[in-house]
Amino acid sequence: MTATPAGISLTAIGKTYRGRGKDVEALRDVSLDCAQGSFTALIGPSGCGKSTALRILLGLEGVDTGQVRIAGQTPQQAASAGITGVAFQDSALLPWRTVASNIALPLEVLGRKIADYRDEITRLVALVGLSGYENALPGELSGGMRQRVAIARALVTRPQVLFMDEPFGALDQILRRQMNIELQRIWTETGATTLLVTHGIDEAVFLADRVVVMQSAPGRIVEVIDIPFARPRTADLFGQPKFHALCDHVAQVLHGD
Ligand SMILES: Nc1ncnc2c1ncn2[C@@H]1O[C@H](COP(=O)(O)OP(=O)(O)O)[C@@H](O)[C@H]1O
Ligand SMILES: [Mg+2]
Repeated sequence: MTATPAGISLTAIGKTYRGRGKDVEALRDVSLDCAQGSFTALIGPSGCGKSTALRILLGLEGVDTGQVRIAGQTPQQAASAGITGVAFQDSALLPWRTVASNIALPLEVLGRKIADYRDEITRLVALVGLSGYENALPGELSGGMRQRVAIARALVTRPQVLFMDEPFGALDQILRRQMNIELQRIWTETGATTLLVTHGIDEAVFLADRVVVMQSAPGRIVEVIDIPFARPRTADLFGQPKFHALCDHVAQVLHGD
């Protein structure tokens, strides 16, 4: 199947890490299509291959079998064209560089002229709610602020496809919910096709159009759950019975009940 313009398409992906004496089947027959502009959450126990799938989509890891397309291109082509952006859990900011210069990093990697992006960086700093902190160092920021910088950095190439690997995993629940609401707004404003890896069932159900549940040994998709709630979703959704009912369903699939 061909991907939609800025969609993600995984077709029958297989990936085994070969070690001395012991092979790990990280992904078996994983197929998933994410339409352009959609928000998909990937959830599953530790070791079920979530990060492997992201590394494959970023072109950092190859597959043994199957086909991967992002906006109709290979992951490597998409990465070098700046079509994909990524934010990781530990935010991975360079401590000696300012907020603005951390955000500019992907531009340097792609060999683009940073001077052409001054306005874009200012706009992104505002988008993630950090206006006035352009020249701050990561050590001067809270954990939540550092994650905002990481998200701004992931967006600096104006990626059509955004990947996130547990971006709010280190934050407490109150801050996490604030960031969830902000992420929904940022996603709405950018229109990026988004794939979020998370351990948080409530985060997945709150944010996503679809929650993809994986299991391990071998890493595989066991169920794809549609989330029908209207947008924009507001904080009160976290307290609603229909929200809890869907979270319970995801938990049941996740824990194999
Ligand atoms: N570079 C690697 N070499 C060997 N095994 C790996 C490597 N990376 C991951 N694995 C193994 O592959 C499986 C999936 O890992 P990973 O994709 O990190 O899972 P998750 O992100 O869902 O926790 C795990 O069993 C892990 O130990
Ligand atoms: Mg992982």
